[in-house]
Amino acid sequence: MLDKRMEQAINAQINRELFSAYLYLSMSSQFAELGMAGGQNWMHVQFQEELFHAQKFFDYVIERGGRVRLEAIDRPEQDWDSPLAMFEAALGHEGKVTAWINELADLALELRDHATLQVLQWFIAEQVEEEASADDMCRKLRLVKDAPGGLYEIDKELAARVFTPPVAAQ
Ligand SMILES: [Fe+2]
Ligand SMILES: [Fe+2]
Repeated sequence: MLDKRMEQAINAQINRELFSAYLYLSMSSQFAELGMAGGQNWMHVQFQEELFHAQKFFDYVIERGGRVRLEAIDRPEQDWDSPLAMFEAALGHEGKVTAWINELADLALELRDHATLQVLQWFIAEQVEEEASADDMCRKLRLVKDAPGGLYEIDKELAARVFTPPVAAQ
């Protein structure tokens, strides 16, 4: 059985993953408003990833005989100054998520909960990817800042992203 403290901590993380989904869906909407279908797509893929993260934690709690209790999801920001500002916000947000995942891992270690720790290993690796991909986009957007056609090229790259649910994910 899942320790009650661990159960509570994962429940809080489920809410954060759902908030993340909400945040990226909000960004997707602003990209649509800007006429950047690629950015809209990229953020929508990220939205799907976050739903997947929430579902993964959800399934794990149930599998361990725990109880998921859903809470209200905070309202995300709705307007950013630029595509770069959106990706900077995404990067900042993912940094916070990484810290929360690390706290969960610390708790799992404290409780000697090896099963949870193993699930968290997947998330720890995923966070490296999350931060790297947001950072990559920030760098590219800074590079093209004043170049005509630059945003258009970046939008084409953002359009290519597809959601593929990880098969080997626990
Ligand atoms: Fe996530
Ligand atoms: Fe990811």
